[in-house]
Amino acid sequence: MNKRFSVYLNSKIKKFNKTIYVESDKSISHRALMIASQCMGVSSIKGILESEDINNTINCLRALGVRILKKNKSYLVYGNGLGSFRKPSKKNLYCGNAGTLARLLSGLLATSNFKAILTGDSSLKKRPMKRIIDPLSKIGANFFPKEKTTLPLSIEGTNMPLAQKFEEKIGSAQIKSSILLASLNTPGITTVQAAPSRDHTENLLKYINADIKIKKLKKENLITLKGMKNLFSFDLEVFGDQSSCGPFVILTLLTPKSKLIIKNVNCNPTRLGFVKILKKMNAKIKITNLKKKYGEFVGNLVCKSSPNLKPINCPKKLVPFAIDEFPLLFILSSLIKGKSKWNGIAELRAKESDRIKIMEVGLKKIGIKTKSTKDSLTINGNPSIQIKKTLHIFPYNDHRIAMAFFCLKQLINGKVLIHDFECVKTSFPKFLMTMKKIGAKYEIQK
Ligand code: S3P
Repeated sequence: MNKRFSVYLNSKIKKFNKTIYVESDKSISHRALMIASQCMGVSSIKGILESEDINNTINCLRALGVRILKKNKSYLVYGNGLGSFRKPSKKNLYCGNAGTLARLLSGLLATSNFKAILTGDSSLKKRPMKRIIDPLSKIGANFFPKEKTTLPLSIEGTNMPLAQKFEEKIGSAQIKSSILLASLNTPGITTVQAAPSRDHTENLLKYINADIKIKKLKKENLITLKGMKNLFSFDLEVFGDQSSCGPFVILTLLTPKSKLIIKNVNCNPTRLGFVKILKKMNAKIKITNLKKKYGEFVGNLVCKSSPNLKPINCPKKLVPFAIDEFPLLFILSSLIKGKSKWNGIAELRAKESDRIKIMEVGLKKIGIKTKSTKDSLTINGNPSIQIKKTLHIFPYNDHRIAMAFFCLKQLINGKVLIHDFECVKTSFPKFLMTMKKIGAKYEIQK
């Protein structure tokens, strides 16, 4: 458990011109470790994100009998093949704050013939699990207590899994991946007709020669996976997380005479919704040096101060590709002139916190006018807004909320105290250090 601390902010960021790196991609780190555990032989993964969420993945895998060592900058995962998990050495598999861990690991446990209990922190224990309970039950797994749809849950995998056809309508990569991981150890062909979402699982499975095929349909992707094919260990390098670039991008766009280069970032097209949306808003942002490495695209993100930013009526179809960046987009649209409308964002209510509600509460406290429905948020931007009395932010165990309000304060006058800032360690332990590099000032209060 991390020690609690608050961050006190009392000054604005000054112009900067910097080159930085952000920490490694969280989604790929989870997947690389979990998939390596199902391969035969020792996989070597460089650049695994060393954050709380990923630590929890490593601990869960170790409790399931997987040997994982760190050697120099690489993690070595000793895979024993499909369905090789052992009954856990611990009573509970603790997933902390990580929805990706809970849902993807459930996929692997669905075809492991023993009972295991999954649990998490207070945020994860509120998040919906019916979305994976239903498809994994169809494959043959059992969840207890029956009718319960949140963690803690006990999952009993089956040794006679049944390949099925699924429709994933939400556009959730976690649901899609959970099914795909279960299908690896399932005889026959599993089919997932999936609304578009990040495709790191598919990319990694293709990279290691799993029997996976993807057909692009008009609106969805048709993914077919033939299970029970032995998979073999692999070498991989994980690059910077697009989502961790967001805070730095926002600060650059809204700070006059500034420029930022973020090097070696994962640039998978299904993660570039944020860049696309910003471009539509007139942001000066581009990707350079784009290369394909280990089945994923990597490049540099270059952005500059953008004095002509304009509001947006954001189309729903871009949402899954920018799903974790909305708190930052809400901050940006609060600080530019005009009314922005964010549509089709109901899924934000099912994240580490209800991100529509919590962001609205914070923005309203400083006088930004907002209006929300179940699945939209309208923000009336005000570039001259100031914080009059110390703004207290409570992120409710949600790293993205803490980082978003950190950025807001760097751009306007006034004082902000962000409580429980340690939640940022789930995805980006070096966040404050990296902010310092571009000149942000803050005070840690224990
Ligand atoms: C993730 C998928 C997204 C995202 C989460 C990470 C993943 O969730 O919000 O932070 O690694 O698959 P959903 O797939 O539920 O939208």
